[in-house]
Amino acid sequence: MSDRTLSGVHSPTLSGTTQLDSYRPLFLPTILVGDSRLGGISSTISAYESLLLRGYIVDTILLFKDPYYRNWEYLEPYFAEHGIKVSAVDPPPPREADRSQNFIITEEYYRKLVSNDSTGGLLRVVEHLDQRHEERIKELHNMPRRALDTVWWPFVQHGLIKDEGDVNVIDSAWGDHFTIFNGHKPSSAPSATASGSLLESQFDGSASWWTQALGHAHHTLTLAAARAAGRFGHVMYPQAIHTPALRLAERLVDDGPGKGWASRAFISDNGSTGMEIALKMALRVASKRFGIAPQGRKNMGVVGLRSSYHGDTIGSMDACEEGVYTCEWHQAKGYWFEPPSVGIKNGRAFVNVPTAVAHDNVEGRPLSWIYNVNARLGTSLASVYWTHVNDTLERLAVGSGATHPLGALVLEPLVLGAGGMIFVDPLFQRVLIDAARARGLPVIFDEVFAGLWRLGLRSAAPLLGAYPDVAVYAKVLTGGLVPLAVTLASEDVFRAFDGASKAEALLHGHSYSAYAVGCEVANAALDRLEMLTRGEEWKAAKEAWHAGGVAGEENDGTRGATAVWSMWSPQFVDVLSKLDLVEHAMTLGTVLAFKVKGGDSGGSPV
Ligand SMILES: Cc1ncc(COP(=O)(O)O)c(C=O)c1O
Repeated sequence: MSDRTLSGVHSPTLSGTTQLDSYRPLFLPTILVGDSRLGGISSTISAYESLLLRGYIVDTILLFKDPYYRNWEYLEPYFAEHGIKVSAVDPPPPREADRSQNFIITEEYYRKLVSNDSTGGLLRVVEHLDQRHEERIKELHNMPRRALDTVWWPFVQHGLIKDEGDVNVIDSAWGDHFTIFNGHKPSSAPSATASGSLLESQFDGSASWWTQALGHAHHTLTLAAARAAGRFGHVMYPQAIHTPALRLAERLVDDGPGKGWASRAFISDNGSTGMEIALKMALRVASKRFGIAPQGRKNMGVVGLRSSYHGDTIGSMDACEEGVYTCEWHQAKGYWFEPPSVGIKNGRAFVNVPTAVAHDNVEGRPLSWIYNVNARLGTSLASVYWTHVNDTLERLAVGSGATHPLGALVLEPLVLGAGGMIFVDPLFQRVLIDAARARGLPVIFDEVFAGLWRLGLRSAAPLLGAYPDVAVYAKVLTGGLVPLAVTLASEDVFRAFDGASKAEALLHGHSYSAYAVGCEVANAALDRLEMLTRGEEWKAAKEAWHAGGVAGEENDGTRGATAVWSMWSPQFVDVLSKLDLVEHAMTLGTVLAFKVKGGDSGGSPV
């Protein structure tokens, strides 16, 4: 593939997209045709940098040997430093007035250009390209073996990997798809392409562990990352400030999920860490509030929901009950309620209430009613929930001499993600929050998975009708480009760390805390996400869900009703929920989950 600066790498093609974007899916060996005229050094380097930002590997640069400007003399050593070969070829001869003479000298020019012996001849360029292409294909072939010999994957039992065919080689990713290499798979493998093509497009069904929101390699985000990297690289954070971090903190606190309750943003670098920080904040508040003795403070626990997940660091694991992932590194500290769950079966929404709580399920009500929490607070089920939660907390002697003095309520609002895509009855979570607050327990919302419009809402707080004291955001915070997390806190929580000595401060900081690249990308991602929420696609999806059916036949125009909608059409969810194979389905915002009969987890996320 060749690209040239004359029309420019950003010039539109017939389809209206730029050359960069329309050739991108091919990612073939790339020649950049440089510019040999005045200004050509700059335009060639600019075109090269634009190609890099779109993920191209530029194999060679070709330009004319203009004897006056001699651009190649500058560009050759410049690109040699980047490992790229520059080939300068003689420019075409001046045009002759006589047509037949012109034809002869042009022929001669082209003959020399492709001859093997001419210096900088085109054949050498072609050979170089072939060689680079072969190297690339060879590398794609041998990557699975090299990976099996060297890397240690998360969540993977290496002993169960049969051979190289089990390794997914991702050549690139764009939008909602990976481009994967299939050359190492047997032709009978389900993922080997029928066409015999070495590369194949594969849908990224879990949005790469739910990090993606705008599609892979979104150019606005890659530009933001490059901008911040170019301006700051990385700079340390304590008692320092830069615009990416400051703007991010302000927008999340003043006009984001923290609006109305948070006063501080603590920026860190991944969801598990964001949760560790949240726990440290809440436990400090509780130790002070309940006057817990120093020894008891070492042993504090939380109240939460069964099947919750808050990350893989030891503190975040300890805030969850025992599970398959907890192993010998874990000491469950707390108590976890079995949650009532929401689903759709045969086109009808229901709330499944655990028998330990009550014997009646809720059926035959639309989702808009189930998610109208304020209205449901007056129902008999709310009283049943209240009694169950209160009695349990009473038994656990919150804040007094229990084995693990309870120091926080920790919730994944609305949906337990990694624990099985279990949609929790929002009324139950609201009752838990009210009961915890009544006892002085700080409330943490872990919105790492569900926040920032994953469920169609910036935060679940307005729907639940209750604000947290601490809340955590990560994953889509950066549109899935780089890791970053933010822990928001109320002024009360912030003040709990006031004191005369440094030892009383929040002593938690990673080398890359609030790194500028992450913060700049988060600002760009939030801008784009906010645009999406105002766009026609969201409007149409909301209207479809509010027109009636399972979502809204009793739509009463209240907050609960308007919050319930999905990017998945109501007709599709209706059909899915009626399939024999499907125990139940459920959807909110961009998440669709369904439980296959006989399966052992809550749902299969899409
Ligand atoms: C609800 C929730 N909290 C915390 C985490 C941990 O985030 P990270 O993987 O960025 O450490 C996750 C990750 O899936 C999550 O779903």
